[in-house]
Amino acid sequence: MKAKNHRTHVSNVLVIGSGGAGLRAAIEAKKSGVEVTVIGKRKKEDVHTVLAAGGINASFGNVDSKDNWKQHFADTMIEGYNLSEPRMVELMAKEAPGLVSEIDEWGANFAKLENGKLDQRYFGAHTYRRTCYSGDYTGRSILKTLIKKANELKIPIHDSQYVTELLVHNNICFGAMTFNINNGERTVFIADSTIIAAGGHTRIWRKSSSRRNENSGDAFYLALKAGCKLKDMELVQFHPTGMVVPEEISGTLVTEAVRGEGGRLINGKGERFMANYDKQRLELSTRDRVAMANYLEISEGRASKNGGVYLDISHKSKEFIIKKLPRMYRQFLDTLMIDISKTPMEVAPTAHYSMGGIIVDPDTHNTGVDGLFAAGECTSGLHGANRLGGNSLAEILIFGKRAGKYAAERSLSLDVQYRSRDIIKKAHKKIDFLLKSGDHVARPLQRELRNIMWEKCGVVRDEIKLQEGLKMIDRLKKLSKSLDVRPDSEGYEDLMLAFDLEGSIMAAEATILGALKRKESRGSHQRSDFKEVRKEQELNYVISLGNNKKLKIQSEKLKTINPELKTMIESTREIKDFKGLLLE
Ligand code: FUM
Repeated sequence: MKAKNHRTHVSNVLVIGSGGAGLRAAIEAKKSGVEVTVIGKRKKEDVHTVLAAGGINASFGNVDSKDNWKQHFADTMIEGYNLSEPRMVELMAKEAPGLVSEIDEWGANFAKLENGKLDQRYFGAHTYRRTCYSGDYTGRSILKTLIKKANELKIPIHDSQYVTELLVHNNICFGAMTFNINNGERTVFIADSTIIAAGGHTRIWRKSSSRRNENSGDAFYLALKAGCKLKDMELVQFHPTGMVVPEEISGTLVTEAVRGEGGRLINGKGERFMANYDKQRLELSTRDRVAMANYLEISEGRASKNGGVYLDISHKSKEFIIKKLPRMYRQFLDTLMIDISKTPMEVAPTAHYSMGGIIVDPDTHNTGVDGLFAAGECTSGLHGANRLGGNSLAEILIFGKRAGKYAAERSLSLDVQYRSRDIIKKAHKKIDFLLKSGDHVARPLQRELRNIMWEKCGVVRDEIKLQEGLKMIDRLKKLSKSLDVRPDSEGYEDLMLAFDLEGSIMAAEATILGALKRKESRGSHQRSDFKEVRKEQELNYVISLGNNKKLKIQSEKLKTINPELKTMIESTREIKDFKGLLLE
């Protein structure tokens, strides 16, 4: 297609991202009576949600009858080390049971108890068993169900659409510019409301539970360019258990459900070590603690054969493992020919989840740019400094639904559909500008960035490494100005990678800027030069894009918490007793 030619696609609500948050948003918008279009860069059956494994939280109290939404609220706030947005946590804890029941009724078919109620398993640092699940493929069950529902509602889902720009004029978003990754065809998707649900940025670390071409930071880049603000980008969750070998897939998730079902962590000397880090909760301690424990066992010379630690579930029967953890059983057989009912797995920390991201209103998920909403991992607020496992699948349903509802409401309130030809022209220009030959190829630069992030802004950080990282990223930024982008018979992947690289570089820079400012150790953010939680750091770091196209960072006070909920937290555990010092 020639530059400046494009197809035009008009709908009331446009959803960017065909994962769980995007689809739940689309379903709600359609049910509210508006026309919806969903676009995604991957094939809809193979988006990142399929990798979400162990479960989804809701305080039904089916197994532990004392559970209730207030306890779920308190657990989430405490494990977020005070940085979560209380209203968002309250909404999640209150609304999770309704939406988990709904998706189960729609066909997710979660595991049931003999009495027909949903079964609930242990996940780390929850006071009670509250994680509902389908084996260890809960995300896949949810996604399949949402696709089926979207099909029933005749919601079109367009795969292979790469968004290059959110179209914004006078702080009003009127859609997005895309190209088709297979043939380069450009489309201007016009909409009254746009919802971005395009994931986080954890693929920019060398070891990551995300695959190629997902979670590259593109959502953050699009949002920043559109005028949104990001918050707490330095708060990135390292999951304690990613695969160690084979190298090509190192970082691939080994679900927390393995520990939830009784898996034990053992170091290279054969010692079960978690009691040294959390006597009470052992392997079911908070994710940050277990990740740090694994990191220390490895870095202090007690590693397993291939440089990880062992995760052993072989004391359970093969039948039990195949019933509760079928995917893990298959994953290790397929990739390593290891039968985990006989042989321990080797695991190590892996970049897993972006807890920072786009700032949104807790109730509506409006971004502050008119007509632009966001949902899912690309947003910030819910998880604070350390996410509880199982809260992200709850998040995508609850806030996907909310974003869809409010996006539809906005559309229904408008008399005219807005657009700016000038902005569309500029979006074309940007694509044209990248389509050229150059001295560097995107993939190796992306690889370099992933190494930088792992080494300079990984599980344990310090001022010197972070400053070095920034310099190295600056160099990459310069190299990326001369990218070789040549569409060929294989399609427009080069162009996608060129945009992705820009997004990844900006997301990396934002993360390091946040990590430099946060001079303390809190949850997932561990600094060897500031080993304590510091009261004066009880704030959020907000990042925006200045007129000079440079990132700006400022601190912002935390939102206040209502007295009743505060009491709930205090009665669960004294939050002030929590120490960030995981490094001793
Ligand atoms: O380990 C897991 O299954 C991951 C769950 C989560 O991140 O919520």
